[in-house]
Amino acid sequence: MPTKVSNNQSFQKVPTSNSNWKMGESQKILSGKTLTFEPNVFTSSQLHQFLVGSFPRPACIISTISPEGISNAAPYSFTNLVCTDPPTFSLTVFKNSDGSLKDTQVNIDASNEFAVNLISDWFIESAHASGMPCPPEVSEFDRIGFTPKPSTIIKSPLIAQSPVNYECKVSQRIPFINKEGKETAILYMGEIVKIHVNEQVYDTDKATFKYENLKALIRLGGSLYAKINTIVDPNQTTDSQ
Ligand SMILES: Cc1cc2nc3c(=O)[nH]c(=O)nc-3n(C[C@H](O)[C@H](O)[C@H](O)COP(=O)(O)O)c2cc1C
Repeated sequence: MPTKVSNNQSFQKVPTSNSNWKMGESQKILSGKTLTFEPNVFTSSQLHQFLVGSFPRPACIISTISPEGISNAAPYSFTNLVCTDPPTFSLTVFKNSDGSLKDTQVNIDASNEFAVNLISDWFIESAHASGMPCPPEVSEFDRIGFTPKPSTIIKSPLIAQSPVNYECKVSQRIPFINKEGKETAILYMGEIVKIHVNEQVYDTDKATFKYENLKALIRLGGSLYAKINTIVDPNQTTDSQ
């Protein structure tokens, strides 16, 4: 039975929870006791599930293109902006559970390029579905229903549903090797060579993003995501709000 969820779309700017906090005052510590784990008490798949549950992450779709011209798209969350000078985005691609390579890795290794497409609330269904296995000769753009938007420097198409897209060129490729000496994943650093932002999510006069329109999602554990629909600003006092 699916869990019943409320469909409240409201977006709020609220005060921080403790807006009367003064410098030097100790803030809340949870009363529960700390559970401490050695990573090696878990199997590798248990550790993966545990870690992804413990630390919310950005969610995006990485789009790439194969040497045969087949465009690929899959969701990724071991991803982040890691430097702004040079502007750099990181992406970790694990091997599939059967040890085979993901199409994303094969395509990046062949082209040295990838595109990052931010996931927004209005296309979470198709974004999540693009994580299902799909043969390399089938494009997720057709299968899932993503609309291709042309890129300007790299060859891979961007996803038109996404309000923020980066075109990236690989600047570093770092393999991860586990204790058994097996390569488990590749960390790619991609230099951002072009940025595309839909004007509905960016106020050019104020040079600020309109988070109420961006509707970005955060990746939690399992199949869960969180919507960003509450904003706090610790620099604003309660009086000025
Ligand atoms: C929200 C979400 C985030 C994901 N993040 C990653 C990730 O960071 N690294 C990874 O290797 N796989 C990740 N996956 C799994 C891949 O999307 C999945 O293996 C996909 O089938 C890979 O497709 P590809 O073979 O076309 O590259 C994620 C899946 C979902 C649904």
